[in-house]
Amino acid sequence: MMRDFVAGLPKAELHLHIEGSLEPEMLFALAERNGVAIPFATVDDVRAAYDFSNLQDFLDIYYQGMGVLLTEQDFYDLTAAYLARAAADNVRHVEIFFDPQGHTARGVAFGTVIGGITRALDDAAITSRLIMCFLRHLSEDEAEATLDEALPYLARIDGVGLDSSEAGHPPAKFARVFARARGLGLKLVAHAGEEGPADYVIEALDVLDVDRIDHGNRALEDEGLVARLVDEGVCLTVCPLSNLKLCVVEEMGLHPLRVMLDHGLKVTVNSDDPAYFGGYVNANYVAVAEALGLGRADLAVLARNSFEGAFLGAEERARYL
Ligand code: HPA
Ligand code: ZN
Repeated sequence: MMRDFVAGLPKAELHLHIEGSLEPEMLFALAERNGVAIPFATVDDVRAAYDFSNLQDFLDIYYQGMGVLLTEQDFYDLTAAYLARAAADNVRHVEIFFDPQGHTARGVAFGTVIGGITRALDDAAITSRLIMCFLRHLSEDEAEATLDEALPYLARIDGVGLDSSEAGHPPAKFARVFARARGLGLKLVAHAGEEGPADYVIEALDVLDVDRIDHGNRALEDEGLVARLVDEGVCLTVCPLSNLKLCVVEEMGLHPLRVMLDHGLKVTVNSDDPAYFGGYVNANYVAVAEALGLGRADLAVLARNSFEGAFLGAEERARYL
């Protein structure tokens, strides 16, 4: 059975926002533990609110949800729960995004956030990297200030990324801060081509010099760009259930993943914000496999791509590939 084959494949997850792994049950538990009011009476009420028409609909609820995260233990519990869930899906390596500005803006210290996340990463059996995202609806100066705050913790931060509202916030807005991050030895990624145009993917490559593209769906609108992504072997971290829930695709049968594979793009399958989009990594593989008729060979390519696109050292590469 397809489900068993997917479950048996060792995988890496390269596109996962840790705040997006906050399940409704933990949302309630932390709201109670911290005395934070939430506008929901039951877990079913919460799930009913997860009905999105676009990225911004989701982001409004996502930033509200993370308001229950206050202490180092909260960030530990959140991360530990995700890591256990990922391990259950036979994920061997994870590259986790976090959104420090979503927390420091509420008065939670940068050190509290990164302390809890890294303590959970250190306790886990699977290997990991940590990627700090800048919120693109905020200014580049605010991203610069966030990078300043991260300086004491750079030993624990492997890369920077760019997330939040894409339309109207092109990658070039963050040219300076990405160049500084590169100078600090950090890996670079950016969400591009989820709702924004193919030109944003080109800008992420040319202006930011990113090592991977997160999503990249709309790159398919530009033939020359597709040829370049294939030629340069750029990894795309695609998120099928996210795309469905945020109406980036109308139905899973219309998801571009098969077309991407057929072009020879280095695509991977990831869960993005699994607590909000209805499934962890295996559920994402199964959903596209069923809707697009992917076979075992395709699924094995996707899993292999996930390790090839990961920021692994030589010893880990040898272990996983
Ligand atoms: N897109 C942009 N920003 C995000 C996402 C996403 O899918 N998830 C969390 N922040
Ligand atoms: Zn994302």
